[in-house]
Amino acid sequence: MSVPDLHRVARSIRQAFIKFDHVNAIHGVLATLVTTDYGQCEPDIVFVVGEPGTGKTWLIKRFVANYPREDSETVTRVPVLLVNVPPKCALKRLPGAMLQALGSPLWNVGDEEQRSYQLETLLRKCGVRLVILNEANHLVDRGKEKSHYLLGDWIKLMSEKTGIPFVLVGIPRVKVLLGVNEQLADRVREVVTVEPFGVDPRCRNQMTTALGAFDKLLDGVSRIPLSDPANAQRFALATAGRLRRIRRVLEEAARAAGSLPKPKIDLPLLAEVFRTHVFSGAPDQRNPFVPAKFDGRPLTGPGEPYEPRRQTKEEVDA
Ligand SMILES: Nc1ncnc2c1ncn2[C@@H]1O[C@H](COP(=O)(O)OP(=O)(O)OP(=O)(O)O)[C@@H](O)[C@H]1O
Ligand SMILES: [Mg+2]
Repeated sequence: MSVPDLHRVARSIRQAFIKFDHVNAIHGVLATLVTTDYGQCEPDIVFVVGEPGTGKTWLIKRFVANYPREDSETVTRVPVLLVNVPPKCALKRLPGAMLQALGSPLWNVGDEEQRSYQLETLLRKCGVRLVILNEANHLVDRGKEKSHYLLGDWIKLMSEKTGIPFVLVGIPRVKVLLGVNEQLADRVREVVTVEPFGVDPRCRNQMTTALGAFDKLLDGVSRIPLSDPANAQRFALATAGRLRRIRRVLEEAARAAGSLPKPKIDLPLLAEVFRTHVFSGAPDQRNPFVPAKFDGRPLTGPGEPYEPRRQTKEEVDA
């Protein structure tokens, strides 16, 4: 396969959206929220939670694309409102961020109460049937229990006043909101977890499935059998089962193969990609793609790619 072809394969891996079973299942949950008529009942609140790079934003964006915004002269319809919560977003900033996402030119006019009122009116006027707050963990980036409690309260009230269900998407830290606000927790219909891919038979998402799906995109490229059990185990350790890492390793492997006289994706090439793009300067003992030397332990030690983040007390309690 020629160099331009390998670059094309690399691009297709980067752009791929694979409809894994869990992706379809979460799309199903979201579609139910959009189509449910809540009438006078309390609308549902759903959390979608997963470690970084497990594919949350990707699947949400693809869902929202099914519900395009319609602008006419008299009215704008936004069936599903996707809001990217800005970093360190305090309650003062949230209504403005939502107004901005809706397209209001007056998103920064007025105090928090006035913006909340404008938002409530516009959500109704634009026929919004579902609000998705992506990166909702930014709501608990800073502040204390009290401010997190008030944020939870605001979300719950906005949902009730407008009759619109809300979905909060984020890394597990987002669950702090549930820990501090019992009323919000009480209203949550479901906390959906986006799981990483693993090799243990108990894992809901199997690494062999993920590799099998990406493998199809490598059609025509000379390669080792990526999804056989030994390689799946190597990928599981090298990527912690996260789609961003799996995608990056395979994308860079396709690109790197392009610079070889006889392009082939094999263990030495994957070991080099791992050293360059996942764990800079990893010694062979800590490189899952060097089977003769790798010590078999997960890459969760200090300074390693999957070192657990330090948890705050609230997070532990949540
Ligand atoms: N369903 C999928 N099919 C193929 N590739 C995917 C899929 N989901 C995610 N990816 C790949 O993983 C990358 C990271 O996904 P995404 O940004 O959705 O992760 P995330 O869970 O939102 O991460 P973060 O917590 O850091 O925001 C995507 O850019 C894409 O390359
Ligand atoms: Mg994301």
